[in-house]
Amino acid sequence: MTHLDFFKKLKRLTPLDPTTSILAFFFVSVCFILCFIYLDYRAVTTEFRSRAQQWMKELCKGKEKLLDFGVAENMLEKLRNHRLVFVGDSIGRNQWESLLCMLSSAVPDKTSIFEVNGSPITKHTGFLAFKFRDFNCTVEYYRAPFLVAQGRAPARAPEKVKTTLRLDRLDWSSLKWKGADVLVFNTGHWWNYEKTMRGYDLLQNIVLDLRIHVLVRGCYFQEGEKVKMEMSVESALRRAIETMVDWIGSEVNLSKTQVIFRSYAPVHFRSGNWKTGGNCHRETLPDLGSLPVSPQTWGHFKTVIDVLTEHSNKSQVKKIDFLNVTYMTSRRKDGHLSLYYLGPKIGLAPLHRQDCSHWCLPGVPDSWNELLYVNFLKWEHNHISYAHH
Ligand SMILES: *[C@@H]1O[C@H](CO)[C@@H](O)[C@H](O)[C@H]1NC(C)=O
Ligand SMILES: *[C@@H]1O[C@H](CO)[C@@H](O)[C@H](O)[C@H]1NC(C)=O
Ligand SMILES: *[C@@H]1O[C@H](CO)[C@@H](O)[C@H](O)[C@H]1NC(C)=O
Ligand SMILES: *[C@@H]1O[C@H](CO)[C@@H](O)[C@H](O)[C@H]1NC(C)=O
Repeated sequence: MTHLDFFKKLKRLTPLDPTTSILAFFFVSVCFILCFIYLDYRAVTTEFRSRAQQWMKELCKGKEKLLDFGVAENMLEKLRNHRLVFVGDSIGRNQWESLLCMLSSAVPDKTSIFEVNGSPITKHTGFLAFKFRDFNCTVEYYRAPFLVAQGRAPARAPEKVKTTLRLDRLDWSSLKWKGADVLVFNTGHWWNYEKTMRGYDLLQNIVLDLRIHVLVRGCYFQEGEKVKMEMSVESALRRAIETMVDWIGSEVNLSKTQVIFRSYAPVHFRSGNWKTGGNCHRETLPDLGSLPVSPQTWGHFKTVIDVLTEHSNKSQVKKIDFLNVTYMTSRRKDGHLSLYYLGPKIGLAPLHRQDCSHWCLPGVPDSWNELLYVNFLKWEHNHISYAHH
């Protein structure tokens, strides 16, 4: 029977035709069996797949094919017996997630990758550390959005001071990571009025994108015992970076630890910002025109550069690798979570709840991590040449 004959026959079939019934019965049976196989398969796989792997799968959708250049394998080999730690805000976590995906793509046995405390990847966990068992290395993230320590206001502070940022000391978690082999710092997105000094009550009336209501309630700046009521956010950021520089000088063994500072990652809100309904959906192309660095981005970038330049005669500053991603990232207005961050099943996010700060995976943070890899190679090269002198 040729195809044509078959279709002719099919056309002639009527619902009451015995051939139709047989076909239908056959079809339904096959579906039934397939359903069983599928459900059974699902039951078995979900049972045995550890939770960590499920997150990994969620996180890394579409990532496997991305890096065919051996970067992941080489990076894992370089990280053997090492600890790589990201310290910073949620954009730093974005980069950490991206690196986990990149590295896991080079590991065939996904059960050999796990969170050391079995913690799930949730938004506000203080820290998360994934171990790559076969390489005896961990890739960790510590949440420290300001890099410096945040704590309760001193006893005699004015009432509106609820918490303070201790500009003269590094985040409390620093004891846990100062011995890491690679430290990747970033900060930026919390250094603004709304996320520091402004009161909680005012914030409640605003639609919040970044869920900032937890820690931020009249947070002022403090140095020593003194709360600096008049200090601007910019001066405070400057002090925090200086503190980081001094801390690296006194606490980090720079023969062992490579320190990298990743520069500010711009946001791309149109007609508003994160708290006034800015959006970035329907952006599908990067900005290839003249360099679109916003004044806010430039401000952050310049403050950090200024501090590093002013302290450039300190030996530790010469050893900090500056991961300069700000300019290239500025062009990527198309790379944000935008309306996808509520999840594909929920459908379009309302315009006032778009995320134009964080990045899709795979995407922009991958290119940061490729630069990170180049920094690894550079560091290794320098250390080998020092060793020969
Ligand atoms: C695993 O790495 C740690 C450092 O992160 C090291 O102290 C330890 O000796 C390594 N274990 C093995 C078996 O090599
Ligand atoms: C710093 O690290 C190097 C290389 O690991 C090591 O040889 C040296 O003893 C360390 N110095 C200190 C003061 O711990
Ligand atoms: C670095 O330069 C400043 C002036 O710009 C100077 O006061 C300081 O002593 C210098 N430090 C070192 C270690 O050379
Ligand atoms: C950062 O990179 C941009 C190009 O992407 C360059 O124009 C700028 O000078 C660099 N800045 C620093 C401080 O390295």
